[in-house]
Amino acid sequence: MGLVPESTLEEILSRVDIVELISGYIPLKRAGRGYKALCPFHHEKTPSFTVNPDKQIFHCFGCSAGGNAFGFLMQHERLEFPEAIEALAKRTGVIIHEASPSERKTQNLSEQLYKINECASDFYFNQLHSPEGEPALKYLLKRGIAKETIQRFKIGYAQDKWDGLLNYLRGKGFVLGLIEKSGLIIPKDKGGYYDRFRKRILIPISDSKGRAVAFGARVLDNSLPKYINSPETPVYSKSKVLFGLNLSNEEIRLKDLAVIVEGYFDLIFPYQAGVKNITASCGTALTQEQIRLLKRYSRNVVLVYDSDNAGQMATLRSIDTLIEEGMNVMAARLPEGHDPDSFARQFGPEGFQKLITEAKDIFDYKLDFLKSKYAPLTIPHKAQAASEMLSLISKFSNTVAKSAYIKKLAEELSLDENSLLLELKKTENQNNHIPHKEEKFTPPKASVNSNAPERMIVRLMLEEEELIEQIKEKLAPGDFQDKNISQIITKMFDLFCSGKKINTNSLVNHFTGSHLSKIILEISTSEWPAVSGTQRIIDDCVRRIKESKRKLKQQELCRQLKLAQGPGNELKLNDLLIEFHSLSREGA
Ligand code: UTP
Ligand code: MN
Repeated sequence: MGLVPESTLEEILSRVDIVELISGYIPLKRAGRGYKALCPFHHEKTPSFTVNPDKQIFHCFGCSAGGNAFGFLMQHERLEFPEAIEALAKRTGVIIHEASPSERKTQNLSEQLYKINECASDFYFNQLHSPEGEPALKYLLKRGIAKETIQRFKIGYAQDKWDGLLNYLRGKGFVLGLIEKSGLIIPKDKGGYYDRFRKRILIPISDSKGRAVAFGARVLDNSLPKYINSPETPVYSKSKVLFGLNLSNEEIRLKDLAVIVEGYFDLIFPYQAGVKNITASCGTALTQEQIRLLKRYSRNVVLVYDSDNAGQMATLRSIDTLIEEGMNVMAARLPEGHDPDSFARQFGPEGFQKLITEAKDIFDYKLDFLKSKYAPLTIPHKAQAASEMLSLISKFSNTVAKSAYIKKLAEELSLDENSLLLELKKTENQNNHIPHKEEKFTPPKASVNSNAPERMIVRLMLEEEELIEQIKEKLAPGDFQDKNISQIITKMFDLFCSGKKINTNSLVNHFTGSHLSKIILEISTSEWPAVSGTQRIIDDCVRRIKESKRKLKQQELCRQLKLAQGPGNELKLNDLLIEFHSLSREGA
C-alpha cells in the first residue's frame, strides 16, 4: 500500500466509531459518558480501560495504552500503521489511493520473496517426509522432537543435491534473479546457480507476522559448520528478527515474561515441553531492535544461555543493551554441560519452570560470574571485578536502583561505598565522553554527508516518540543547517505540541506531494549501523549539530570582521570581536 493522504485518514476516522470497533473485540460497560472494560493489553481484575466516544479514543489507566481507532487495531491485532489503515478503510468503505510505481516495485519484491520462502519451506517440509528425508526425520525423533512440533515449526530437510530446490522453484515459475535475492541459491563462478542448503535439517525463521523470511540449517552429524543460515535479504535482517517470537508473543504477553535462549533447539524443545513464552537470539548478542520487538509484549526477561563460557559471555553481552532499553533482566544458571534443550529434556517442564523461578537478578548473576572469574579475590582482582560491576550499574537510569546496587556491591566485595560511588561517577563520565570503541557512534557517510547527525535526530524521533520532548528541549529547528531537515523538525515539534501521533506514516502524510516526504522515507528506511545507547547517540548528535552551527556562525563573523576593517568601524569591529570570542569560548 502506498502513502495515504491525511485527508483519507481523517475520512476513515470520521466514518468509524471507536466504541463499535472496540466492542467487537471486548465487552464494554457504560460508565458515565464513556465506557469501561478490563484492559486487553495487561492483566487486571478491576477495569481501568476506558473508551471516550466524544474524543474517539481509548486509554488504560493501568498500563497507559491508548490511542485512536488505528491505534487500537495496531495494538490489538499487532498491525503496522498501513495495515491498520487498510483494515479500517475496508470496514468503512473508504477507497485508498494507489501506491506510486516505485513503491509498488519494492512492495512487489518483498511479496515475491515471502512467496519463495513459503514455497521453499513447503518443499523442505515435504522432503523431510520423503524416503530421502528418513535419516533426518529419525534424527529429529531421536532428539525428542514430536511430529506435532515438526509441523508447528515446519521443520524440513534439504536433500544431498545441488539443484533440488532450484528446480522446484523454477518449476513454480520464479525467475533465477529473484530466487537469488532470497539467498536460497548461490551463483557459481562460471555461471549457473546451486542450492545453498544441502543435506541439512531446515528450520524456517519467521518474522513477527509469521512469514518465513530465512532459514537455519543443521547438519545431521558432527561436521562443521553445525549450522548455516540464510544471508541478509530484502526481507531478512538478522538483527531485527527473534526466532520463535511469532509463536510465543501471546504467551509472553500473558505471562508478562519472556524466556530468552540462544539456539534453535534450545527454543524448540522447551516450547514443546510447555515453555511457550520463549524466544531465541540465534547465537548473537541481543540487538536494540530485537529488544524493542520484545518490549511490545513484556519488559521482563529471563536469559537462559548455555552454561559454558561462551554462553555466559553472550549473557553478559546482551545485558547492557537490555538494561539500556529499560528491561528488567534476570538470568538463570544452567548446570555444567547443559544447554536449555538438554536441560528441558533431562529435567522436564517442572525442572525448567523451577530454573526460571530461581533465576537471579542480573546484578547477582554478573557478580557471581566475576567472583569465580577473579578468584581468589586479591585486592587488584577486587578492583577489577568492581569496575566491571560499575559498568553494569552505570547502565541503570534509575538512581535509587543505582545507589542500592552500589551499597550491595560494597557489602559483597567488602569495599568502601563512597569510593565505589566516586568510581561510578568516573565510569559515567567516561561513558558520556569516550564511548567504547565498538559502541562509538559514527553517523553513516559522515564525510560526504555532513547532515548525518541531523538526519539521525529525525530518525530517532520517528522511532521513539518519547524522545521528542527531550530533543525539543535541547535543539531548535534553527539549529539544523539542512533546510529540509529544519522544516521536517519544525513540523514534528508542531505535531508534538498539539499532541498528535508522530510516526513515519503520519509525518509523510503531512508532506504529501512535497519532496520532504521522500526525504522522510529515506531517513526512516536507510540502513544505519547497529548502535546501542540511545542517550549517548542523542548527546553526540546534539553536540555535533551545535558545533557545526557555531562554526558556521564564526565563519559569518569572520566575513563581517573583514568587511568592518575600514576606518570608522571601530565600534562595530569591537562588537564583532566580542561576539567572536564568546563563541570560541562556548566551543571550548
Ligand atoms: P550452539 O553451538 O550452542 O548449538 O549454537 P546448539 O543450538 O546447542 O545446537 P544443537 O543443539 O547441537 O543443534 C547456538 C546457536 O548459535 C547459532 C545457531 O542459532 C545455534 O542454535 N549457530 C551455532 C550458528 O548460527 N552457526 C553455527 O555454526 C553454530
Ligand atoms: Mn544444543
